[in-house]
This record gives sequence, C-alpha cells and structure tokens, in this order.
Amino acid sequence: MLRTTTCGALTLQNLGENVTLCGWMQNSRDLGGMTFIDIRDRYGITQLVFNMNDNVDLCEGARSLGREFVIKVSGTVVERSNKNKEIPTGEIEIKVSDLEILNTAKLPPFLIDDKTDGGDDLRMKYRYLDLRRNPIRNNMILRHRMAQSVRRYLDGLDFIEVETPVLIKSTPEGARDFVVPSRMNAGEFYALPQSPQTFKQLLMVSGFDRYFQIVKCFRDEDLRADRQPEFTQIDCEMSFIEQEDILNTFEGLIRTLFKEVRNYDLPVVPRMQYADAMRLYGSDKPDTRFDMQFVDLTDIVKGKDFAVFDNAELVIAINAKDCAHYTRKQLDELTDFIKRPQIGATGLIYLRHNSDGSLKSSVDKFYSEEELVRWSAALNTQPGDLVLVMAGGTDKVRKQLSELRLEMGTRLGLRNKDTFSALWVLDFPLLEWDEETERYHAMHHPFTSPKPEDIALLDTDPKNVRANAYDMVVNGTEIGGGSIRIHDRALQALMFKHLGFSTEEAQKQFGFLMDAFEFGAPPHGGIAFGFDRLCSIFAGLDSIRDVIAFPKNNSGRDVMIDSPSTIDEKQLKELKIKTDL
Ligand code: AMO
Repeated sequence: MLRTTTCGALTLQNLGENVTLCGWMQNSRDLGGMTFIDIRDRYGITQLVFNMNDNVDLCEGARSLGREFVIKVSGTVVERSNKNKEIPTGEIEIKVSDLEILNTAKLPPFLIDDKTDGGDDLRMKYRYLDLRRNPIRNNMILRHRMAQSVRRYLDGLDFIEVETPVLIKSTPEGARDFVVPSRMNAGEFYALPQSPQTFKQLLMVSGFDRYFQIVKCFRDEDLRADRQPEFTQIDCEMSFIEQEDILNTFEGLIRTLFKEVRNYDLPVVPRMQYADAMRLYGSDKPDTRFDMQFVDLTDIVKGKDFAVFDNAELVIAINAKDCAHYTRKQLDELTDFIKRPQIGATGLIYLRHNSDGSLKSSVDKFYSEEELVRWSAALNTQPGDLVLVMAGGTDKVRKQLSELRLEMGTRLGLRNKDTFSALWVLDFPLLEWDEETERYHAMHHPFTSPKPEDIALLDTDPKNVRANAYDMVVNGTEIGGGSIRIHDRALQALMFKHLGFSTEEAQKQFGFLMDAFEFGAPPHGGIAFGFDRLCSIFAGLDSIRDVIAFPKNNSGRDVMIDSPSTIDEKQLKELKIKTDL
C-alpha cells in the first residue's frame, strides 16, 4: 500500500507516530511562515502543516499544490493548537517531512464541498467529481449498507439469490420496453426486463421456493423525481405461502432495514384496504405521517341551490388545524395551487372556525350558520380550524383534494423527513379501465390472482374484482408492490381473455409460462421493492437521483457519457436496421 492509514483515522491516540497518507488536496491556507493543507480521501480530512523554518523547499512545494491534486505525504502526528471538534481528526495534524505529487488536477468545474456551487447539469456532466463530495458519497455508502442488510436478512430466511437474464422478451408491467436489436436474428429484438416477474415465477416452478435478487429493471416511461428509466428492485418470490406470509416476511425486512441502517424502530405496519385509502386520502399511496383524512359532505351540502355542490358527484373536505387565521392572500395561493394544470381543479371553498367560535364560509350566501354547524360537526373542527372543501366527479376530486392535503401537510410542517410512517395497502382492484385503448388492463400485472370470491364477477362486474395484491407505502411513496400469483393454466388463460388477448396472442407471448404451469406449479406469490426509492427515503432525499451513482437526467440522458447517441452506419447495417424513418 502507498499509505499507512487513511485521512479519517488519526486522533490524539496516535501522537508521535510516523504515518503516510494519500488523498486529494482539499484546500490550503498560508499563514506567514506556515502552510496548512487539508488532505481528503473517502474516510475523512486530515490537516497537514508545513513550516518555512523547517524546510523551505517542502513548504514551497506545498504552496504550489492546486485544488484536487493527488498527493502522498509522510510525517509525524502532532497535537493541534487550534482544535476542530467537528471532525474526528480535528485534534491532530501531520507535521509533514515528505511530499510527493502523485498526479496533478485541472481546476474542478465546481467546488468539491458539502455545499457546492455546481448546478445540476454541471454536477451530472462531471458526476465522478460530484461523487467525491461527502453527501453523495454518503448516499452510496448508505445504499451499500442497505443492500448488505437486505442480503443478510433474506439469506437468514433461506432465500437464494438467482440472477435472471437481461436480454429477454417483453414483460407486461405497464410501461414501454427498451429493446435491443439482435444481430444474429435479423429483424428481431430482445426487450430489457421491466422486472424479472416471469422468471421468478418459473423459478418457483423449478422448486427454488424462496428467491430474491437485487436487480436492474428497465422501463421506458415518463420520468419523475422517483422514477428512472433503469432502476433497482429487491425482487422476491416465495412458494407455499399465503398473502399473510408475504406481508409478515417483508414487513420484517423493512423493519430490520430501519433498525440496522437508521436505528429507527418502525412500529408494526398498519393495513388499509385500497378502497379505504381512496376514500380517506384520495390516493393509493397516502402519506400517513399526518391525519387530515377526507370527510364526505355530499349528503350534508346538497339541495341548497349551490350549483357547484348540487352538480357534484362527491363533495369532500379536510380540516386544516389552526389555519383559520389564513389571510385572503394565503387562501388565494391555495386556490391557485389547485387550479394549476397538473391538478386542474376549478375552485376551493372554505369554512373558517374563528377563534371566537363563529363560523364563516366562502359560500355564506347559500348556507346558514345552522347548516355550517353541521359541516363543522362532520369535520370535528375546533375554534381556529380551517375547512377546505372541494367538489366534482369522484375520482377527479379525490385526486385533487389529495394534492391539496399534501400541500397543507407540507405547509404545516407535518412531513418531517426523519419521521417514518409505513402502510400496507391491500386488495387492489384486479383490473383498471384504460380510456385510451378502451379496454381493461391488469392494475398490477396479468399474473396476479383475483380474490377467489370475486372470480365470478369477472364476467359481470370486472372493475369490482379485487386482487390478492398489496403495496407498501412509506411517507406517501410506493416503495414496493406484489401479489399472490395465478398458478393454474386455466385461470391464467381466463385472465388473458379478460385482458383482451386472443388465445393465440396469449400463447405467443406467455405460452412458456402457461406451459410451465402444467408441470406442477406450486402456489406462490411475491413482492418487489423499489430499492432506489427506499434508499432515498432513508437518506431523506426528495429524488432518487442522488442515491444512484450514475443517474439519467429528466430526459433520460446520461450527460456524462452522452448517451443515448447515434451509432454508425456499419453497425446499423450489421443489425439490418433501416435509418430513414
Ligand atoms: P411494480 O411495478 O410495482 O411491481 O414495481 C415494484 C417497485 O419498483 C419501484 N419502481 C420504480 N422505481 C424507480 N423508477 C421506476 N421507474 C420504477 N418503477 C417501479 C416502485 C415499485 O413499488 N414484478 C412486480 C413485483 C411483483 O409483483 O412481485 C413489479 O415490478 O417502488
């Protein structure tokens, strides 16, 4: 090794020792005859001191170092007069006797510091420099610890990690596939897996019984803060289990992660029906760090000649505690918020429960004080509270009020990043109507088993068939989802029929799986967690980008390596791909 120790290890315990350190020049300060230099590596920062009186050449050498030069220094550990209690090495410094420049460095395009002056684009272009910064590196270390913890937990329960192929054919998880042309099979394409779903089910047929994989998945979909085109799942499957076993096993995984990585005691994870989540929070991934549940006012408010309410399918409200003092301006801000095109509401109605006990609404013209008392009772308001009411078609207004609820939660400081609230959402609908294609799609995926008692409804009332499907939500983010699978060829064929596949189409696309079901498929089920999302929640970040070493930007580009990019004619020819679109 070029070094005897790292830049984060030395303390007063090491006084007098001769050491050699390697690292990057973080910064330097000249104070009269003394030069101080901070040397940095992955482990920390150590102060170096050079004294003009001891060795002029050495001191001059130190003064000539540029930021981010790679250096090797040897010297003696001495006590520092000006101690820095903030860092572990802050009580010592190295009196340097030897300095070697291992490599020079161009001036970095942004400060390699916890708080950098680099904008997003620059940081992404020089991601390898960004990764030198503590916050980003710490995210990578956190991610590593989480992966180790996952492996330990699952290995302890006899799960086997199996790698599944990356060049496959389309898996129907709802997004578009990334495809890869095959040179040896001209005109044919592989698809990259949206998840290893079919393979993990085949492993169950093979008798693997408990499988997991920390695995890259690829989805060509619109990107958001919690979505990347390539992302990582903790993908799991088990045989001879019921839904309850999956919930318990993987709740155990998540609670173990919280304990081992964050030293956080996550309470037993509460469970909620999908239908209740939609009714009470307008979302299948409610942020349960705070209450503010929806209250249905439809029956109370109708029939008073207020057209907005009379014409609405649903009138719902939330109680924003202690917000009655909101000014006209603040209420206008909220109205503007819900009128933004992304939310698309037409208006907001409020009821103030003033501190003197009186009630004042924005629709006093239509509702008497007596009627407002009924609103107030339904929402259990106290003096000082503000009720926010929205009306419209059920699905739309629920979505809109859900956005407003989150906004109020943020404004009221109820969404603390160091508090964690997990929730199981159960019994998702099996099917979801797609306006564009005018047919039903599998809400989770087509291998999900309907609840046996609902199978009869497939023909008569498909949208009300419930699935044995579940999601885990933490702080309003869907961190994982899974289901009990169909393991019977006839039922799987029936599902494909209801999803609009002809027998031939189903056989062509999924014949391999249905064939496998005829060779002794055990009852099985599983789940996959979004590993990047879990890491970003653990790191207290809003985006998954900074828990990924080399992420893509919002246009799906890697600006560092400049990808995607064109390929040359020769390659295209080899692949038999025509370029004129
Ligand atoms: P699902 O599609 O719900 O299920 O995906 C599982 C979890 O993966 C995460 N996730 C993503 N994370 C980052 N970027 C993305 N583009 C992205 N898409 C999904 C989410 C999600 O909960 N095969 C099934 C699992 C199963 O049934 O066992 C599946 O992939 O956190």
